[in-house]
Amino acid sequence: MTRSTAKKLDPYLDFEQEINKLKKKLNAVILAHYYQDSEIQDIADYIGDSLELSKKAATTSADVIVFCGVKFMAEAAYILNPDKKVLLPDLNAGCSLEESCRPDAFKKFREEYPDHYAVTYINCSAEVKALSDIIVTSSNAQHIITNLPANRPILFAPDKHLGRYLINKTGRQMTLWNGYCVVHENFSERELIKIKTTNPKAKIIAHPECTLSLLEYADYVGSTSSLLKYTTKNNGSEFIVLTEPGIIHQMQKAAPNSKFFDVPSHNQAGCNSCSQCPYMRLNTLEKLYYCMVDKSPEIIVPADIAASAKIALDRMLAES
Ligand code: 13P
Ligand code: SF4
Repeated sequence: MTRSTAKKLDPYLDFEQEINKLKKKLNAVILAHYYQDSEIQDIADYIGDSLELSKKAATTSADVIVFCGVKFMAEAAYILNPDKKVLLPDLNAGCSLEESCRPDAFKKFREEYPDHYAVTYINCSAEVKALSDIIVTSSNAQHIITNLPANRPILFAPDKHLGRYLINKTGRQMTLWNGYCVVHENFSERELIKIKTTNPKAKIIAHPECTLSLLEYADYVGSTSSLLKYTTKNNGSEFIVLTEPGIIHQMQKAAPNSKFFDVPSHNQAGCNSCSQCPYMRLNTLEKLYYCMVDKSPEIIVPADIAASAKIALDRMLAES
């Protein structure tokens, strides 16, 4: 359970200091995705994309993994390292892609295409991973799909935009699940054009979860880590960033002479049309501290589901 806010208010606590003490006491490692608040990124031991964080979770010697990301990431950490205690600061930190792909519906989808190989994006539940042949992330999907036997038909779930992008990149036909990311589907094309018009030298960089119409504007497309590397190599330039703006914190640190523009969402719901992920941003420094004090919320995946999901995750790691 996540603590109620009423219990949490303590104006005298220095959360950074207390979290660092708890890290030592628990022999804990804090893993954070780039979409976390800057203050969480600054206290993390490792920051990375989904693939890098999975690899780190699979090999850490810490006793406790505190996962500052969303639930599917913490589940993957547990599946890859079931002897560790895995904590997630807010149990409601889900993902619209995961929600779009319920295990029962996915099972039926697979049954409709019994001869197809199921390539599933890591942004899904442990149950859906357990029903998949191989897991991919945006860093390795193109490589993994390109290397599948040419005569093998493929299902791709749950992100239809990433799926279409991969069909174009690999030339492989794939039957797509109809899911999308609420952040990357909703960037405002009108705002993007306005920003580009007033800053014509700025390069547009995009995550492949964006719609194809947005990707057509992009000078560079890649996973979060690959976008970060691209901006780091081009220090001193201007960038319009079509991914969750939390990553701009690391981009700005690595390329202090560059200028970054985030792009508002056309969806008026949420944070006044900013493009923050409503799930990722549920985690706060305060919740991070209390989850380490309480050793809760803890992520545990039932053993039978974890065992099947691990096969699909291990296949991915072997190819990455
Ligand atoms: P990557 O960090 O693997 O590029 O994924 C982005 C994302 O949406 C994670 O939820
Ligand atoms: Fe899911 Fe999109 Fe948020 Fe990533 S940014 S966790 S894909 S909703």
